[in-house]
Formats: sequence, structure tokens, C-alpha cells
Amino acid sequence: MKNYIDLSDIEDLPALLEDALKLKNNNSNPELGKGKTLGMLFFNPSLRTRLSTEKAAKLLGMEVMVMNINSDGWALEFEDGQVMDSNKAEHIKEAAAVLSQYCDIIAVRAFPELKDKERDNAELVMNGFKKYASVPILNLESATGHPLQALTDALTIIELKTVKRPKVVLTWAPHPKALPHAVPNSFVQMMQKMDVELCIANPEGNDLNSEITNNTKVFHDQDEALKNADFVYVKNWSSYENYGEVLKTDEDWTFNQEKLRGTNNAKVMHCLPVRRNVVIADDVLDSENSVVIHQANNRTFAAQAVLRKLLKG
Ligand code: CP
Repeated sequence: MKNYIDLSDIEDLPALLEDALKLKNNNSNPELGKGKTLGMLFFNPSLRTRLSTEKAAKLLGMEVMVMNINSDGWALEFEDGQVMDSNKAEHIKEAAAVLSQYCDIIAVRAFPELKDKERDNAELVMNGFKKYASVPILNLESATGHPLQALTDALTIIELKTVKRPKVVLTWAPHPKALPHAVPNSFVQMMQKMDVELCIANPEGNDLNSEITNNTKVFHDQDEALKNADFVYVKNWSSYENYGEVLKTDEDWTFNQEKLRGTNNAKVMHCLPVRRNVVIADDVLDSENSVVIHQANNRTFAAQAVLRKLLKG
């Protein structure tokens, strides 16, 4: 694997998932990463991605360097041909070339601004690193995708499913702030590659990018979508149509016990962090149906499987 920027970088998904499961059962390889360095650059906050990826790298024997780039680094210019006479002190051309000398893999987290759809879809930050670095790039969540989370989600469903082809429902839930589309985009793309019955539930005006959802069925009636669900993935995202806007915040889409009763005793997933009693109610998060902690644990093994592939080239 040359890079892990989006799900199209995966050559053999079943094999990658099997690797992650083996790694979970302690089949580690601390020699592979010996003498190698992972550099992690964060333009945005993180708990799980940062610590699980650091842990994964260390389990493989790697050294890890972490930088919160907005507070500790120079402001970077990502567009070519600019006269850099404002606040941007360093161009991605030099930054990526220099980092490639210090690191064997460069991992980057860079959220969208949610102001300009075309600009966010262009993935300037991730593509800037890809273009100008000479080492593999690992996406720690970009403007439009979170492929490490999606691999974790696939692993979790494979581990916990009790029927061959489970029904998986991705449901929108309210949130007071405008959130990106990266997690639901990658989740949908991952589920489209798996043997599951996938559907999406969201209010009108909150449909995801149709180039990603493709033929996946979208319900605007949450209760209808939830019928017979084996897994419910709860997540908020801002409007894609009215780009970055929060169109709805009322609690009638909050996922609670009443909603859970309409499913096939579904396992409830969320990438975390989750706002309790806004996105998912206490009575679900504190129930046996919630698998969010199990899911977060799987972040380490998904990251380990991907790092191993990147180290092997
Ligand atoms: N799910 C996830 O990416 O968590 P963090 O934002 O805490 O890294």
C-alpha cells in the first residue's frame, strides 16, 4: 500500500480486516517498524485517532513524533504560485519535503472549513502532502473522509454480527454545531464494499453527497429505516445541499430506547466523541446494545493493520 488516504487505497479488504483481527489477538510484529518513524500532524483536535495510531505504531516498534500544527508550527500555504506576503510562512512544497526526511510515514488530520464545498472537496491539505511528500501519507480524517474510522467500523461489524448479511442503518441525529461529512462518507463507502443491507436515514435537506451514496437507499422517515436493523450507526452531519448549515436541531431524531425498540435489538455504534442526550440518549449509551467502547478499542488494530501495509510498501 503506497498511501492510506481513502478507501480506494485498499487492495484487498478481506485480507486487511483479517490482519486487523489477527493483530487484535496479539499477532504483532514489533520488528517491522524498528528504526522507522511515524510523524503525526494535527490541524484539529483528537483523542482516539491520535492515541490509537500512536499506540499502533509503537506496537509495531516505530518511533512517533506528534505536532499540533496550528499552535506549534508555521502556518502553511497549500496553493501553488501564491505571493506569500500574508500570514502563511511556509509552503507545503518545503514542509512536506523536509518532513519526508524526518519521517517514514506522515499522518495528517485536517478537517474541512465547511464554507466552500468545492474547496473542501478538493482536499487541498491531504493532496498537498501526497503531491510533495516522498513517503506514504496516512489520512487521520480529512475534509471528506475518515478511512481509519471506516476500517474500524467494518472490523467491529464483522466481529459482532450474528447473521450472515446484517441490516445496517446509518442514521443522522441532531447536534448543535456544523459537523463534517467525513465519517458518514467513509462509513457508507465501506459498507458498500461489504456484504450488508445498508440504508441511510436523515431529514430532508441532509442527504449526503449523492456521488457517495449512489444507489444506497435513503429514508427521510427514521422509524421506517430502523425496522429490523441489526446495527445502527448514529452520526450527525451538517447539510451537504445547503453546505455546512445546521438545518435541524430538535430532539425527534435523537437516538433513544424508544427508537432502539423499533430495531432488531440492534447494536448501536458511534465513532465518538458523542454528545449524550443530544445525539444518543443515556438510556442507549449505558445499555448493553451500545458497542461504542468496543468500537473505539478497534481503532488501534485497524491502524496497526494499515501501518503494517504502509511499512511493507
Ligand atoms: N472517532 C474519532 O476520530 O475520534 P477523535 O476525533 O477523538 O480522534
